[in-house]
Amino acid sequence: MSDFDILDEEVRSCTLCTLSAKRTNAVPGDGDRKANVMFIGEGPGYNEDQQGIPFVGRAGQLLNEMLASIDLQRQDIYITNMLKCRPPNNRDPLPAEITACGPYLERQITMISPKVIVTLGRYSTANFFPNEPISKLRGKPMPWNDITVLPMYHPAAALRNGKLKDALQRDFQQIPELLDSENADRSSPLQNTLPTTTEERQLDMFAPPPTDKEPTPNSDEEPSTTESGPKQMSFL
Ligand code: URA
Repeated sequence: MSDFDILDEEVRSCTLCTLSAKRTNAVPGDGDRKANVMFIGEGPGYNEDQQGIPFVGRAGQLLNEMLASIDLQRQDIYITNMLKCRPPNNRDPLPAEITACGPYLERQITMISPKVIVTLGRYSTANFFPNEPISKLRGKPMPWNDITVLPMYHPAAALRNGKLKDALQRDFQQIPELLDSENADRSSPLQNTLPTTTEERQLDMFAPPPTDKEPTPNSDEEPSTTESGPKQMSFL
């Protein structure tokens, strides 16, 4: 069994947070474990929970279209989520859930060692850059350790808002160039604000949340209770 298989098994049998009690399937991740580009979404929705595979609903279809526009297919990338189990009613992730799941994502990033990480939506973006809203960060490739992180709007948000969809389409066009270039933009003015170690990122847990708001990513697939449900800061 490879280290990756072991990790997937740990995720599938995980009981570190209460989401495990209600899941049909945990959703570790999918795709090329040696991919140059890794995508990170928020958390499984209804369809993902049913199938145990990330991004298989409507947001996933849009993602596939965007990938095709740059001559990539799902098997060329690795894709996973911040949370590996579906939050009830597709509500936003809770801080305790993100904390519990965080080490799985860290291990995935270490094992895949991608050149580029695309963060989809405000939660996965806040995992790397907790102090800036997604509207400011999207489309800006930024250095994080030895990886280039490219934040984007979540495809589910783009399904509801044509302007966000246009932005997502434009941001996707940067991926081939980033994969080609050895040196992504290392002169970003945001560079000095970025937490680079786990400890720094943990300290940033208490940073204020980004001020803008995207539509709830998973709520296209099932009715969401987000507006009345619990709220929490974006962090890690
Ligand atoms: N939205 C996400 O963030 N992840 C999925 O896997 C599906 C929808």
